[in-house]
Amino acid sequence: MKKIILDCDPGHDDAMAILLAHGSPEIELVAITTVAGNQTLDKTSLNARRVCTVAGIRDVLVAAGCDRPLIRELKTAAYIHGESGLDGPSFGEPTVALDPRHAVDLIIELLMQSNGDITLVPTGPLTNIAMAVRKEPRIIQKAREIVLMGGAYTRGNTTPAAEFNIYVDPEAAAIVFTAGWPLTMVGLDLTHQALATPAVLQRIAALGTPVSRLAVQLMEFFRETYRRNSGFDSPPVHDPCAVARVIDPKVMHCVDAFVAIETHGEFTSGMTVTDFSGRLGPTNAQVATKLDVARFWDLMVDAIERIGAPAVRAS
Ligand code: BDR
Ligand code: CA
Repeated sequence: MKKIILDCDPGHDDAMAILLAHGSPEIELVAITTVAGNQTLDKTSLNARRVCTVAGIRDVLVAAGCDRPLIRELKTAAYIHGESGLDGPSFGEPTVALDPRHAVDLIIELLMQSNGDITLVPTGPLTNIAMAVRKEPRIIQKAREIVLMGGAYTRGNTTPAAEFNIYVDPEAAAIVFTAGWPLTMVGLDLTHQALATPAVLQRIAALGTPVSRLAVQLMEFFRETYRRNSGFDSPPVHDPCAVARVIDPKVMHCVDAFVAIETHGEFTSGMTVTDFSGRLGPTNAQVATKLDVARFWDLMVDAIERIGAPAVRAS
């Protein structure tokens, strides 16, 4: 079993990442930590607890972290994820509580107590991870690796140059990308191949469980906002791609590169400048390029099926 800490900002696709991690036998989900990003921290934390409640996730620590980027004002993505950050389904009162520890302290504690076998999987802005690195730099050696959803080498989605997670907190991203740990960047180039098509949604709907209904409702809302804002017919389901890479590294092809984070550019702030040719510097990242689409959706559907029908239902 591969242990992971999922550091997220749910978020529709973050919710899918939680489901994939929880429902996959290859993964031990040690903690879910939350960060401000798609919505404010109070909302992303509530949403993590909501998803855990519907999916019956009771034995996983859930802790809230940083409520704003290191330096900049928070910019959220309500235009994609709605006012709640998880618009679409209706939820009852969550029955999963938050751990009292700050997510940054929890990440440090878990890594420092580990045998070096925990992988960090951030799927939101990198604020918590950067803070943890600054507070306890020994976690860089302790983490097995970091596999993050963020960045891109061909395009942005928030500006022409920048992907949302990196755009929100480029200073944090710069700390994480220069820390010197094994890092995989699962960016838009890859995640735009993971489209929740009608055929995929039919497969998930056919499972007929509360969790499958939740997943379908989330993806239907996501499809509408992606259609309106970005002209996609089917929405790209970014965040579970990073979890899938941990479950089965062969699910995507990666290429070594030097990745620098642009923190100053007038038009390019938050860009992940990716050099595959070694001109700018030595390799500091494996960069995901090509997804085995069928394998990815098999992992996702199987995970949702395995979660089955937990006792607590979405209302
Ligand atoms: C990333 O931004 C967020 O809106 C998604 O949850 C994902 O992590 C994609 O750019
Ligand atoms: Ca996210």
